[in-house]
Amino acid sequence: MFSKDDRSKDVSTPRIAQEVWKDGEFIKWDDARVHVMSHVLHYGSSVFEGIRCYKTKRGPAVFRLKEHMQRLLNSAKIYRMDTGLTRDQLCNVAVQLVARSGLDQCYIRPIIFRSLDESRPAFGVNPFPNPLTCYIGAWDWGKYLGDEAIERGVDVQVSTWNRLSPNSMPAMAKSGANYMNSQLIKMEALLNGFAEGIALDDRGYVSEGSGENIFLIHDGEVVTPPVSSSILPGITRDSVIKICRELGIPVKESEIQRAALYVADELFFTGTAAEVTPIRSVDRITIGEGKCGELTRRIQQTYFEITSAEREAPGQWLTFIGGSSSPTTEVQTPKFKEHKLEPEPVLSE
Ligand SMILES: Cc1ncc(COP(=O)(O)O)c(C=O)c1O
Repeated sequence: MFSKDDRSKDVSTPRIAQEVWKDGEFIKWDDARVHVMSHVLHYGSSVFEGIRCYKTKRGPAVFRLKEHMQRLLNSAKIYRMDTGLTRDQLCNVAVQLVARSGLDQCYIRPIIFRSLDESRPAFGVNPFPNPLTCYIGAWDWGKYLGDEAIERGVDVQVSTWNRLSPNSMPAMAKSGANYMNSQLIKMEALLNGFAEGIALDDRGYVSEGSGENIFLIHDGEVVTPPVSSSILPGITRDSVIKICRELGIPVKESEIQRAALYVADELFFTGTAAEVTPIRSVDRITIGEGKCGELTRRIQQTYFEITSAEREAPGQWLTFIGGSSSPTTEVQTPKFKEHKLEPEPVLSE
């Protein structure tokens, strides 16, 4: 439908790791396939992560690997997906995958989902009869909101779509199904000529972008919506909060009204993919001077200095591939938990 214009463009993907890790072994990229009747395709039953590995002078370094894998396990726990995999095993696999790929920088994508047992197929909504599968892949990924966005900022709109309400779909779990909501927000924004949409929560307070958390700066204070505003608890968000504290910039979590966006001095998005991206207008209202603000620039620069290992992080944030801080234990083949429930009856032979 949009093949001839900008809306069909994706982030540039120059290189892809030729191996994918699947349930305990490395397989070829071309063999990483699922059955079309897999539960996940029909009912959205997946949880996943997005992790960046940065190029540094000391070789590739994965940013906040443990925190990402912990969030993956938390998302899986919420959806009763017990793979038996531990956080350390997942971290080890990610490190091995990057090392084997030869990529000097990449984006790492672990995913756990309900697939199909072809010898005992089950097609209903009930997820329990379906086997769990875990894959981890990696590729080199460009700037999520475009190359210019990081420098000059993006134009965004407040979406007509609300973020998920806490008792319908938990926004704090990074589940594949949540991204249907994100897609509605993103498509609306793109079709209206904006780079991104900001969703409000079900009470009308600012929540987050389709794939980013949001920060507002007013009178020298940095403010971001709390987890109770139906956000994904972003790891970049947490990093920025800690960076602000270290730089002595006042920072707090607080509910934000839509109108406060328009009169903010500065606004920016955070995310693994989006990193720290300034916002220069909302609903065609110019924010501050319509460019990357002074404090945003300071925070952004500090973030990039940390991810490139030129500056010490406020914590153990970088895992160097092959370096002394890399996990060394061998990855065990995970034992997936057997579900005791009977599969659904197959209706036709
Ligand atoms: C909906 C949503 N919110 C926020 C974020 C930012 O989270 P993180 O900084 O952990 O990547 C993401 C990105 O994964 C996201 O998809």
